[in-house]
Amino acid sequence: MPSVLVLNGPNLNLLGQRQPEVYGSTTLADIEASCQAHAAQLGLDVELMQSNHEGALIDAIHAAKGTHAGLVINAGAYTHTSIALMDAVASVELPMVEVHLSNIHAREEFRHVSYLSKVAVGQICGFGPRGYLMALDALAERLVPS
Ligand code: DQA
Repeated sequence: MPSVLVLNGPNLNLLGQRQPEVYGSTTLADIEASCQAHAAQLGLDVELMQSNHEGALIDAIHAAKGTHAGLVINAGAYTHTSIALMDAVASVELPMVEVHLSNIHAREEFRHVSYLSKVAVGQICGFGPRGYLMALDALAERLVPS
């Protein structure tokens, strides 16, 4: 069964408590549980990881090569700043879908830029936790033989 790494970046461990008016009340544990269930329905294995540290996220992307067939990444604020994360994704040559809970294009101007988009298959934003499931759907279409 093809496997996908779902990677969450800084401050996403605080989902549910963090600015609920922007990010909603769903916790990261809830999101991870629904990713597990949805991936199983799609015929995908899934590994879930969250880190607040840029280097740890880069190490996880490197380690995905040879282990996983695709990536789902919500890099939080590193989306808008990290050329290093973009380079890591480009280096492993795995299909990556970028996810954001909020619609970053309807928010502050500094959130409109995404380095990750340059190396993503596509970007899903503004659909809340459902965005992760949409990203898994998109990867399953590419990775799971029909
Ligand atoms: C976010 C959007 C980012 O701008 C922000 O820094 C986050 C969360 C989202 O999921 O909407 O931490 O990636």
